[in-house]
Order: sequence, then C-alpha cells, then structure tokens
Amino acid sequence: MIEILRSTKQFDIFRKNLDKKTIGFVPTLGNLHRGHISLVKESLRNNDITIVSIFVNPKQFGPNEDYEKYPRTLGDDTNKLKELYRSEDLIGTDKQIAIFAPESIDEIYPDNFSVNISLPELSNKLCGLNRPGHFDGVSTVVYSLFSIVRPNKAYFGQKDFQQYLIIKKMIEDMRLDVQIVPMPIKREVDGLAFSSRNQYLSKEERADALILTRTLGEIKNVVKNTIWSEAKPAIDQIINESLKDTRWDYLTYLDSKNLENPVEKTYMLGLFGAFKLGDTRLIDNKLVEIKYA
Ligand code: PAF
Repeated sequence: MIEILRSTKQFDIFRKNLDKKTIGFVPTLGNLHRGHISLVKESLRNNDITIVSIFVNPKQFGPNEDYEKYPRTLGDDTNKLKELYRSEDLIGTDKQIAIFAPESIDEIYPDNFSVNISLPELSNKLCGLNRPGHFDGVSTVVYSLFSIVRPNKAYFGQKDFQQYLIIKKMIEDMRLDVQIVPMPIKREVDGLAFSSRNQYLSKEERADALILTRTLGEIKNVVKNTIWSEAKPAIDQIINESLKDTRWDYLTYLDSKNLENPVEKTYMLGLFGAFKLGDTRLIDNKLVEIKYA
C-alpha cells in the first residue's frame, strides 16, 4: 500500500499508528531516479514501513542555484514507487510505502523557524567551498525530517559522500537514535552516476560529463595498483594536468573517514570531483584502499 501525506499534521496521525513497526527513511528532493529507487528497495527489504520524503528544501540552494527550476514531479515519483511496490511483489503484504511530500514550505519551516544545524569542519570543504550554507541547509532539514519521521534507519546514497559523512556525524554528536545506511552509487551503463541534474545536460555536455567519472577511475587505478609513496606523485600529476580544464570545480583526494588530508595511517582514500557543464555542476567520488607495501 502507498499513502501520500501532504502535511506534517497528516503525517503525525499516520505516524502514531505505526507503533511497533520498523521504519526505514529515504529523504529526497524528488524527481526519483534509479539511485533513489535502490535506496527504497533496500529499505523495503529491511523495514516494515518505508517513508520517502519529497521536499525541495530551499535552505540548501544558494541564491544563484537551481531551486526554482529543480524538477518537481510528484505524480511520476508516485508512479515509480507504485511500480516498485508491484515489481517487488509487495501487494497484499504488510510492507508499506508512505510518501511524505509537504505541500508548502511552512510545513517544515513554520514562521520564525530559527534553528541552524552546522558542522563546519566537514562542511567547509569540497562542495561547501562553492556552495556556502548548502550543508547547513541539508543538516537542518534532515534533522527536522528525522524529528518528524522518527525512523529506525535512514538511507543515504554515497554519490553525496560529503553529505553522508555530515549526517553521520550529526547523528553521532546529537546521539540520535537513527542508524544511517550508506548505499553504493548507481551508475548509467557508461559509468555516469545517476543524478536528477543529468537531465539538464545537452548532448555534448552529456558526452563530456564522462570526463568526471573517467578521471576519478584513472586515479583510482593508480592508487589501487601502486604503493602509496609512488602513487601519490603519480596522482598529483594527473590532478594537476586535469585541472588545466577550467570546468573542474575541484578534483582532489582526502581521507574518506573525516575529509582531512591523508596521513600515514589513512586506509581508505576518497577521490572527489565536481565538474561544471554549462550551468550544471555534477559530482562524483570513488573510494580506494591505500597500499603501503
Ligand atoms: O540528497 C538529497 O536529496 C538532499 O540533500 C536531502 C538529503 C533530501 C536533504 O534535502
């Protein structure tokens, strides 16, 4: 069964009846693609109720970003979830999907809303450098959604790896009783990570978008096959060469645990890139174990 709840009040009534059920939560901006669907599938497998929130959160968009044009496709999204429910053979079972799609912004940010959740150490780098306030907007809305939904588990895709680390740290610091479940990046056949923003790309931009994934793949191969003392200068060279293309917003590597510069004991390196194609900016990352001997 799929229910659609358009206000916090409606949601609260629905939530009261869930008593002992386990609740999986997939927060989204909507315009669901295969990446989102993989999170919902995993949640359906592991919880009685899966709640998908669809809310284009104004607080996480900068003044010159795509808040206004961000695709709002509740009808299509609902159909995709219905189709998933059917194809997973859940009709007639106790498993349930509920869509929480607040009809207006005040449902989440009532008048005089004044909280701001900020994790500056993790936020002021990578995407945070060119999107000031973005991660405060994300952590604030996710905290608020967690308070409304009160899930047992929350599913986050690793394409937004920095976002995942920030929410994980927020959960730890605030001792929230939510288990965060990171999910692998879903990719198109040619390797481009699924993103709602891929649809903004022209044919040429779509072809050029592969530079992002391929460059990260090239760096990953070097790290994977070479001891770190030799890999580091080789990848620095690839990065320096690549950055001559001014469409890179960033291309770098950091310790995947804390987004700090890698130290001697860094075990899992995160390779991070953001690439601009016209007005569209795409991000991607790859994780790779460092070889010391
Ligand atoms: O990743 C997203 O879609 C958004 O940042 C999130 C987590 C739904 C918060 O608005």
